[in-house]
Amino acid sequence: MDKPIRKAIFAGSFDPITNGHLDIIYRAAKLFDELQIGVLVNHNKKGLFTLDERVDLIKSCTKELNNIKVIEFQGLLVNYCEANNIGTLVRGVRSEADVNYELQMAHMNKELNSNIETIFLPTNKKYSFVSSSLIKEVLAFGADVENFVPKQVLDVLEIKTK
Ligand code: PNS
Repeated sequence: MDKPIRKAIFAGSFDPITNGHLDIIYRAAKLFDELQIGVLVNHNKKGLFTLDERVDLIKSCTKELNNIKVIEFQGLLVNYCEANNIGTLVRGVRSEADVNYELQMAHMNKELNSNIETIFLPTNKKYSFVSSSLIKEVLAFGADVENFVPKQVLDVLEIKTK
C-alpha cells in the first residue's frame, strides 16, 4: 500500500509575511510532504497588502521550496482541511501570550474536527517580537523594517509608500 501523503497547512493573514513567518514555513516544510500556506480571505478587513500581493509575496519568498502550495481560503479552516485531506495545522508561537491564544484556537479547532491536529513550532528567538501588526504600526511612523520582513516585501513597500 502507498504511504499516505502527510499534508499540513500554515494559515494566517500574512499582511505582510514576516521573517518570523518565513522561518516557520522553512522549518515546517521539512516536517511534511506538502505544506500549504493558507492566506485568509477577509472581505471585512482592508489590509495594507491586497490578497493578490500577499499570495505573490509568499510565492516569491518560498520559491526554493518544492513542497509548498500557496492557497487562499475563506470560512472555517478545519473545513478547508477536511475537504483537502490536510491533517495538521501548523502554528508558530512567540511568547506565553501566544500560547494562551493559540491553545484556545487549537481546542476550538479540535472540537470542530477531532481528526485535525494542531502543532506549535516555537518562533526563532530573534523574531520573537515580530508581528505583521507591529510592523504596520512602526511603518506608519516611518520606521525602518528591513530586519523584520523579506526583501520582496520591502520592494513592494517602497512602491506603496512613494
Ligand atoms: O494571521 P493570524 O491572525 O495568526 O491567523 C489566524 C487564522 C487565519 C489562522 C484564524 O483566524 C483562522 O483560522 N481563521 C479562519 C476562520 C476559522 O477557522 N476560525 C476558527 C478559529 S478557532
